[in-house]
Amino acid sequence: MNLPQRLFQKVPPEKAARLVKGYSLALLYLTAFLKLFKKTWNSLVSRYRQKRSVSPCGLVDHKQRPHVCPWWLGYLLISPIRRWFQKPEKILEPHLNKGMTVLDLGCGMGFFTLEMARIVGPGGRIIAADLQPKMLSGLKRRAAKAGLLERIDLVQTSENSLALSKYARQVDFVLAMAVVHEVPSAKHLFEELHAALKPAARVLVAEPAGHVKETEFGASVRAAEEAGFQVVHRPGVARSRSVLLERIQVV
Ligand SMILES: C[S@@+](CC[C@H](N)C(=O)[O-])C[C@H]1O[C@@H](n2cnc3c(N)ncnc32)[C@H](O)[C@@H]1O
Repeated sequence: MNLPQRLFQKVPPEKAARLVKGYSLALLYLTAFLKLFKKTWNSLVSRYRQKRSVSPCGLVDHKQRPHVCPWWLGYLLISPIRRWFQKPEKILEPHLNKGMTVLDLGCGMGFFTLEMARIVGPGGRIIAADLQPKMLSGLKRRAAKAGLLERIDLVQTSENSLALSKYARQVDFVLAMAVVHEVPSAKHLFEELHAALKPAARVLVAEPAGHVKETEFGASVRAAEEAGFQVVHRPGVARSRSVLLERIQVV
């Protein structure tokens, strides 16, 4: 008599088969959950242990770029639960109008991008830029499903360049949500944004308050000022440190 037979000898065979199937599935889910948990935990620990000064240039693997959000967290970032505290339409509507050209910098899998595309309408354009191809392919799938892909340009950036030269002086608004702390140089980032933006165009920067300290956020704002932006407002974005910047001419 084998083990399942011995375990379920007093149970009818169909019920025993159902129980074995149920336990196997539960075991499978538990293993998958533990694996994902371990991966997330290791990633968070390494992120906090590694110093930001480790040069990330040119490296593609997340393990070697601990400060860049791993691609699989992209799925978590598009979770509907996030809407409980960050509603894209509420954050974006005060800044966007129909027909605008808008850059979603570090777009991930597009928690904000799809809403942007809806607000700017068919006459508008969204530039969705991200370092990681898997973030962009996730966004592409979702945009196609929502019938919005035609309004979106997908741009893959590199660590050292946003690859936005073809949009010089064309962009009306930039959302930089939870991305500035992931780039190697905030100053260089804001200089590139300055070149892509129309005069007096605006940038909404929001950084996760949980792991970007006020002093670090202050340093990013100073970098933006040095690159030719001025602070116009400190809008409230849940769980974030945020600032609304306006492009001025560099003197
Ligand atoms: C924490 S996620 C935020 C995603 C999205 N903005 C959101 O709020 O759901 C940060 C994103 O920035 C991207 N990123 C990091 N460094 C970047 C860079 N140098 N250029 C463009 N995107 C970058 C990451 O690949 C990741 O998708």
